[in-house]
Amino acid sequence: MYLAPLRGVTIRCFRETFSREIAEAGFKEAVTPFISANAGVDPLKDRELRGGPLPFRVTPQFIGKDPQALKTCLERIKSTGCEYADLNAGCPFPMVRNKGRGSGLLKDAAKLAAMLEAGCETMGEGKFSVKTRLGVERTDELKALMPLFNAFPLRFIIVHARTAKEMYSGRPHMEEFEEVKRLSRNRVIYNGDAPFPQESDEVMIGRPFVRALGARDDSHELLSRYIAASAQELGGGPGVVGRIKELVAYWKDLPRWEKLWPVLKLSRTVKELEAL
Ligand SMILES: Cc1cc2nc3c(=O)[nH]c(=O)nc-3n(C[C@H](O)[C@H](O)[C@H](O)COP(=O)(O)O)c2cc1C
Repeated sequence: MYLAPLRGVTIRCFRETFSREIAEAGFKEAVTPFISANAGVDPLKDRELRGGPLPFRVTPQFIGKDPQALKTCLERIKSTGCEYADLNAGCPFPMVRNKGRGSGLLKDAAKLAAMLEAGCETMGEGKFSVKTRLGVERTDELKALMPLFNAFPLRFIIVHARTAKEMYSGRPHMEEFEEVKRLSRNRVIYNGDAPFPQESDEVMIGRPFVRALGARDDSHELLSRYIAASAQELGGGPGVVGRIKELVAYWKDLPRWEKLWPVLKLSRTVKELEAL
């Protein structure tokens, strides 16, 4: 099982603070929220990649559309012993996709191929993966690109079984996912509202796991730990409060959190959070 990248949520502090819970839940690997692969940016300076070892593998995910910049980033992380890397070809936000990044790569086959080539060449056979969607507007766009994906020795393709236009809601398209899987020469990993807990190893899970943390008997204690770790990392202040709200927003409909959420939502300081 793979822990999904959720920008602002499954960040390094989250992975470190809840490393035991993540490992005990059966996750063998976490993919980081995306890191920019732009020219002149050193990925090793990114906060996501500055942690120590954890009881599961952490694979960096990159977003970009410049194959040379991607190559440089991958060489950098490889030099520190990082074995695997992932490409974001799924981010649905118009600001990202209209610039040809994230899911926008699905609209430019030549650019997509150049990115896959840069990734496979730099990381090596079976070491570079792609996280994507069924398409941008339609559910058959990824399917049409399978011959292109099949030309590269990827580690696997993670498919969020929605289109970019659908963002994060509505029913995932299982039939279309199965079709992509059937056509793929590379391993395909399912993603999108998969039930948690889960028996299958071939699945990536994000929000269902985050929600399940809030349903635990020790969820208050988990939150206290996260507040303390975030305050230590960020030195207190609005960054901590924003981060905590982002997590508890996933818990707000749970019986033990629905009364606390309106109070927490109005909190402005770490002290107020700690008093909850
Ligand atoms: C707040 C948020 C941030 C996300 N950030 C990323 C990201 O950085 N990279 C990525 O590939 N997907 C990102 N995703 C998509 C998730 O990884 C995943 O594909 C999606 O949430 C569906 O899986 P789930 O239902 O198991 O959460 C994000 C999703 C959300 C809701």
